[in-house]
Parts: sequence; structure tokens; C-alpha cells
Amino acid sequence: MLVVGNWKMNGTAAVNNQLLQAILADWSPLRCVDVAICPPFVYLPQVVEMLSEGPINVGGQSLNPRVNGAFTGEVSGEMLLDCGCRYVIVGHNERRRMQAETDLYVAEQFLAAQKNGLIPILCVGESEQAREAGQAFDAIAKQLKVVIDAAGLEAFSHAVVAYEPIWAVGTGKTATPDQAQEMHTFIRGQFGALGKNLVILYGGSVKASNAVSLFAESDIDGALLGGASLNAEDFIAICQSAEQVATGVTQ
Ligand code: PGA
Repeated sequence: MLVVGNWKMNGTAAVNNQLLQAILADWSPLRCVDVAICPPFVYLPQVVEMLSEGPINVGGQSLNPRVNGAFTGEVSGEMLLDCGCRYVIVGHNERRRMQAETDLYVAEQFLAAQKNGLIPILCVGESEQAREAGQAFDAIAKQLKVVIDAAGLEAFSHAVVAYEPIWAVGTGKTATPDQAQEMHTFIRGQFGALGKNLVILYGGSVKASNAVSLFAESDIDGALLGGASLNAEDFIAICQSAEQVATGVTQ
């Protein structure tokens, strides 16, 4: 299982310090769950430093696929690795929509992440409209295909996929465990034999109260958290839910 917290554009040095102190103070070791936090770029050194002794990894929220050059405001894969990142999120729907990132651009980011030794967390998700029109599966297949065509199936043995229905991200509306499971099975099916070991996260209003029922689904391998990763108690509770489901032990 893997639980990733995406802080998005939240925090200050003082707020991050308080949040991480609170997480570390109540942390109990997890045997079956990897955990990562993706802070805004400017706070990567702070978060890496504070988490350096512990089991929590750090990731970037995006990257520019180019190596270096005149790309004002951008950050490369090499820079993220240099700062101590292990993961990087690519194709988050907020960036697809607000930064007009296309499927092809996301594929370039995926390739650049791997080239720089980072594990890409590839987000895919359908709009509410697509779901209502019965086109959710087509939308997801299309987003995946562009990256699979560019990187090859084999590349996904060092990558994570996150299913994030757009209508569920930051809205409080979570996909039901059945809806999520159905799509995760479909996603796994796009990868042939490699699908069996692919880590597929669910993201979209995951909370401490619904995490167990989502994690209990056989094709849900963890979560990508937005809002819930900004609260120490919720974040810890969700990581522990993943551990409980993974180990079959209820606390
Ligand atoms: P949310 O965000 O948990 O606040 O819905 C999830 C995400 O954007 O990854």
C-alpha cells in the first residue's frame, strides 16, 4: 500500500513545521505501507530535512520535462532528485485544467521523471460529464494510452497510477468503493501481465471515515490525499487504515 499527501498550494514554513511535528510525534511504524508527502517546491528542503530520519518519503507536485534552460518558474526532474524527492505527481487534473497540460505533455513529464530516477505518480480521471455520458472508461483509457505509447508498458513497473475522478477531487464527493474498484480493475487491465503488480491509488475526497472501505477493495492499493493530508490526525489515521487493511489486523 502507498499513501501520498499532496499539499497543493498550502502551508508556510511555520505551518509545515507544526504539521510535520504533529505527524512525527504520533507516528507508529508501518510494515506494509509506504508514505510520501508532496509539498510546494519552495518547501522541499524544509520537508526533506524534517523527514530525513524517518520513513516518510518526499515528492514533487509536478515537473517540467525539459533538462534546463529558459523556462521561467519551472522545476526539472534533476532538481527534484537533487532536493531529495523520490516521487513526482504528473497529470494532476488541476494542472491539466489550469495549466493546460495535455496528455502528450504529461507523457513527456512521465518520461523525464523516470529518466531522472523519480517514480512518477500518473494521475488520470474523468469529468462528471464524461461519467454521466457513460464515457468514463474511454476517457481513462485515452489518458493512459498516450503515456503507455510514449513510455512502453515496462515503464510502469517503476511507476504509480492514481485514479482521481475530477468530480471527486476537493469536492467532498467520494467515488463509492464499488465505483473506484470497477475503474481500478479496468486500469489494471490496460497493463496486461504487468497490471498485477501495478500500484493504483485512489484520490478524491479520501477521509479518515471512508479510507478503510476504499482500501478494502482488492484493486485499490492506497490513496492520493489532498485535504486530508493537511491535518495530522487525519493523515495518520488514513496511513494506519492502510496498514490495518494490508496486514488484516484491526486496532
Ligand atoms: P482531495 O484531493 O483529497 O482534497 O479531494 C485529492 C487530490 O487532488 O489528489
